[in-house]
Amino acid sequence: MKNWIKLLSIAILLPTASTGLLAGEGMWLPLLLKALNESEMQSMGMKMTAEDIYSVNRGSLKDAIVHFGGFCTSELISDQGLLLTNHHCGYGAIQSHTSLENNYIRDGFWARSLADELPNPSLSATFIVRIEDVSEKMLKGVTDKLSEKERQSMIDKNMAALKESFALDIHEELVIRPFFKGNQYFAFVTMTYNDVRLVGAPPEMIGKFGSDTDNWVWPRHTGDFALFRIYAGADNMPAEYSEDNVPYKPKHFLPISLDGVAPDDFTLVFGFPGRTNQYLPSFAVEQTVDVLNPAKIGVRDIALKIVDAEMRADAQVKIQYASKFARIANYWKKWIGESQGLKATDGVGRKQRMEDTFTQRLQNNPQWQKKYGDILPQFRQHYKEIETFALMRDYYGEIIGRNIEIMRIVGYLNNLTKRLESNDEAAYLNYRDRLINYFEGFYKDYQSRIDQKVFAALMEHYVEKAQLGIADPVKGKLILRGNMDYAAWAKDIYAESAIPHRDRLMAILDKTPGESVAALQKDPLFMLYSELSKIYQAKVSETYEDVNGKINRLQRLYMEALMEVFPEKRFYPDANSTMRVTYGKVNGYEPRDAVTYTPVTYLDGVMEKYVPGDYEFDVPQKLQELYISKDYGQYADKNGKMPVCFIGSNHTTGGNSGSPAIDAHGNLIGLNFDRVWEGTMSDINYDASICRNIMVDIRYVLFIVDKYAGAQRLIDEMKLVHPKKNQRVEGSTIKRKRLPKKGNKGRKAATVPKN
Ligand code: ARG
Ligand code: GLU
Repeated sequence: MKNWIKLLSIAILLPTASTGLLAGEGMWLPLLLKALNESEMQSMGMKMTAEDIYSVNRGSLKDAIVHFGGFCTSELISDQGLLLTNHHCGYGAIQSHTSLENNYIRDGFWARSLADELPNPSLSATFIVRIEDVSEKMLKGVTDKLSEKERQSMIDKNMAALKESFALDIHEELVIRPFFKGNQYFAFVTMTYNDVRLVGAPPEMIGKFGSDTDNWVWPRHTGDFALFRIYAGADNMPAEYSEDNVPYKPKHFLPISLDGVAPDDFTLVFGFPGRTNQYLPSFAVEQTVDVLNPAKIGVRDIALKIVDAEMRADAQVKIQYASKFARIANYWKKWIGESQGLKATDGVGRKQRMEDTFTQRLQNNPQWQKKYGDILPQFRQHYKEIETFALMRDYYGEIIGRNIEIMRIVGYLNNLTKRLESNDEAAYLNYRDRLINYFEGFYKDYQSRIDQKVFAALMEHYVEKAQLGIADPVKGKLILRGNMDYAAWAKDIYAESAIPHRDRLMAILDKTPGESVAALQKDPLFMLYSELSKIYQAKVSETYEDVNGKINRLQRLYMEALMEVFPEKRFYPDANSTMRVTYGKVNGYEPRDAVTYTPVTYLDGVMEKYVPGDYEFDVPQKLQELYISKDYGQYADKNGKMPVCFIGSNHTTGGNSGSPAIDAHGNLIGLNFDRVWEGTMSDINYDASICRNIMVDIRYVLFIVDKYAGAQRLIDEMKLVHPKKNQRVEGSTIKRKRLPKKGNKGRKAATVPKN
């Protein structure tokens, strides 16, 4: 009996134990799914094959997945190039069309016809045509004996040769990226469309409901979506914006499931995750949790508190600073969650235990010991060496490079003067014009009075935290003034300097290049910046780069070692803004003792959070009416409730915003937009018990488009399906109720759905 139980538990544990991964973990390369993941995915309920997801020979899911502006993901949901992404991904575009008369941020926007769709010169939509493993070609002639410099020049040479010989069709571009810390290389053939138009967006009260308070938080009730459309030339190929362009005809678009999700349903998220660090040694994780994250959080605490108070006191300030505040608060909150999560799940201890096993295995294998035995001791030493430099780098970056707004601006002006110093007047003029353009937007939303307060508080913080003498110029100034009154100093320097004042700065930039540079170099804020940046370069930058280079080399060797020493494990490369697949299940979690979160939220929860007139939790009148009349149409769940968001165990990160959540058959069920706070450490250490991604239920998106906005023309071009209904009646003789066919004429059949 006992043995039987033992056997059974081994069998149950096996699927994950044999891979060393927890279900849900991993951001996989689409072209390797067949070899690495297909059987596991099918055992988790997927009804597709790897070829349905990624194929170079026929239309597959990957042809519906689009890199949106290079920073988010989006997906095609009609045969007319209709593109779905997040409201927060489209925010810049929506804002750029917003004015006091047409307040699309506040009221939403719905183009009534193709002709009303709004062009966005700075947006792009990039497809992945195919992916190739080019490791062999890129690493030709690279041996352990080369120095880092020699290695890099060999790789550069190989890259040049590869680019030269690579066969590309017209409009195709080639991107080559290192994977597994430079142990492998993959080539991505891409095609980019630059005519991407805004089609629809809900009002902010829906698209950004809960704002910063709810950001990174479950339970969530945000309808974070927006609609765009890709336009192409008459040949369906990329074309610069023209009125003559036509909606793009995709190779594949995602059918949309109206059947919703249930706990344990298979989910696949397909997109462009930005950056993760899964293979850090324990020393690095410890440093992140104990030293670097707290420092960055501390700086932002100070800045956010000042700006928040100003925003609450003044409606105009609230408008000006909302987007900036959201950006700063986003990662501030993420780092807090990340550190807490790593502590709660003993992230450091886990790494240490893995390192112990690693060390043991090396000791049992003299060859490995010889090749890899130094890695962990050297990591330990280098992370110790780099600590103060990394910490000062973060203080400098956060205080001088980011949170004192004017210092960031002075940084740009400093770059400008450099261009003239290197005698390149053309480059100077070009950069100056770009800056002037940028400043127009910047000063519109800038209040020097507020920035001055941030300056005073953060300069004091800088002096308090600085090591290696990097804040000496600040101390020097205050000593000269005869006291340590930061506020008084801030007041004087902001008045004296031209840079916090748009008109005074523009007057300087209007002069001849020589006169402008001379005037800038005499400006007190410019001078302060110069001193701070020089001392930072000399005392921090050089050493940091030097040690970091050594760490990178070790990290590459460590990656190679892990893959060799743990042959039973399945490895996935860190995110690097290339196309990835992650899969998991719809699943709740237990954030703390005695608290259980279920995986689906409803419109009822929106109404529970409703605070009339609040800038985060107000609810539009019309949505309240729809809630009261329960006018949910075909989008309600089977209990007549309106679902809003759901969570799953998919492994995602920044850049996955706007990624489709896809069901077992290849239909769209949701739209990824966030992760839960307790699990944000998944960038460093995924833990299946608390790492969850947050998606908008696609039925909420459709409900808003249809019932709230009345944009029936958009619903008409989508393909709505009932995969679960079909499953239930499979093999039965019961006649199925057919979906009302709306605007189905001439619709191209989607290639993947197996329902
Ligand atoms: N946390 C999400 C992400 O990392 C959403 C951010 C946008 N929303 C906000 N309230 N700041 O991008
Ligand atoms: N909101 C994030 C983004 O913009 C996605 C959330 C995450 O980091 O997982 O990409």
